Amino acid sequence: MSRVKNPSLAPQGQLKIEWAKDHMPVLGKIRVRFEKERPFQGLEIGMCMHLEMKTAVLGQVFQAGGANVAITGSNPLSTQDDVAAALAASGPYVYAWRGVTESEHQENLSSVLAHRPDILIDDGGELSVAVHTTKTDLKSKIIGACEETTTGIHRYKAMEAEGVLAYPVMAVNDAYTKYLFDSQHGTGQSALEGIMRATNMLIAGKTVVVAGYGWVGRGIALRAKGLGAKVVVTEVDPIRALEAAMQGYHVTTMGAAAEMGDVFVTATGCKNVIVAEHFSKMKDGAILANSGHYDVEVDVKSLRNLAAASRVVRQNVEEFTLANQKRVYLLAEGRLVNLAAADGHPSEVMDMSFANQALAAEYLVKNRGKLERRVYTVPLELDRQIASLWLEAHQLALDTLKDEQLQYLRSWR
Ligand SMILES: NC(=O)c1ccc[n+]([C@@H]2O[C@H](COP(=O)([O-])OP(=O)(O)OC[C@H]3O[C@@H](n4cnc5c(N)ncnc54)[C@H](O)[C@@H]3O)[C@@H](O)[C@H]2O)c1
Repeated sequence: MSRVKNPSLAPQGQLKIEWAKDHMPVLGKIRVRFEKERPFQGLEIGMCMHLEMKTAVLGQVFQAGGANVAITGSNPLSTQDDVAAALAASGPYVYAWRGVTESEHQENLSSVLAHRPDILIDDGGELSVAVHTTKTDLKSKIIGACEETTTGIHRYKAMEAEGVLAYPVMAVNDAYTKYLFDSQHGTGQSALEGIMRATNMLIAGKTVVVAGYGWVGRGIALRAKGLGAKVVVTEVDPIRALEAAMQGYHVTTMGAAAEMGDVFVTATGCKNVIVAEHFSKMKDGAILANSGHYDVEVDVKSLRNLAAASRVVRQNVEEFTLANQKRVYLLAEGRLVNLAAADGHPSEVMDMSFANQALAAEYLVKNRGKLERRVYTVPLELDRQIASLWLEAHQLALDTLKDEQLQYLRSWR
């Protein structure tokens, strides 16, 4: 039986799922084909993802393709209880609610794995870490896994490098139709939305410090700039720092940026990016938000230790008064602000990301027994197919190369 916070919230969650579905035409087309072809007939799919409306649509698409689906949330604050209730009412087994503790999260992962999945759909590598550490008897049953985010890819690549990876993994995150749109435009927009919803603050004229100029960081920097902010970027990679500089951002260290920022957003996938020495340099009223996968980028523990007092002043906003009497505000406990304080990425970009998940999972089934135990990129033809379907669904047309143009491009003379 599913475990959700309140099954009576299902009608409200159902409306959200319908809204998302209406804005996910590519996944809709895949669903129609899956209903006919039933590529997952008789298979168990175990999912660990941010359980909100777009993820529910993906779960239902797998179900339409013949799978039995079991799902849990991938972050304590990203589950929407109404959506979880609605998804559970539509068939899949759901073990998720907003605000799970670490031990409840581990229990929920175990509940998903108790279904003995053939395919894992991971966002952060959580299911696979459990399989490789405690549920090792499942290794031989699993056909493969699909991974949604950069932090998860890091973990899977570490398993591959150590030679312990037990099955093939599709790096959905690394598909063009994922990171160029979801990580960049999806997180860019929704992180700012989370910050604005939580604080009701004007961005124009503020100094926004973005830590990490990867796909997520550049999206956040771009949207903050578009809203009128002065953007400062911190990086550890010289090429990415150079890119940020040539986009017109000021590039400096966190040590220096700490004194400049009104708003700080981390997007590195690394830990301890903003730590004690930085908090004490910050302006009174500085806002701290994280958009990376885990709540490790802002050192919340030392912020709590440093603070003389703290209180919750708005939903998702905690005020910390430091010994120097300055106040800093932490959003959503330092967890991904776009999912904890807003609705996550817009459906239109998740349409592409989750089309990659659907086609990558089908690819694993079609190639069962033929793939090695390593991390694979999504085949380019699937990526291009998703881009074409999206363009078509949004009435955007493409030119095609004429024969003479093809010949020109292929010749060296
Ligand atoms: N909030 C969301 O919905 C969402 C969506 C997509 C990805 N993510 C997560 O966001 C994080 C970043 O993802 P990405 O795809 O942009 O990764 P990425 O690897 O493209 O970029 C990360 C950047 O951070 C830089 N960096 C690393 N450590 C740093 C440090 N200590 N200080 C400054 N810069 C540092 C790296 O050099 C790199 O340029 C990951 O944890 C990913 O899983 C979150």
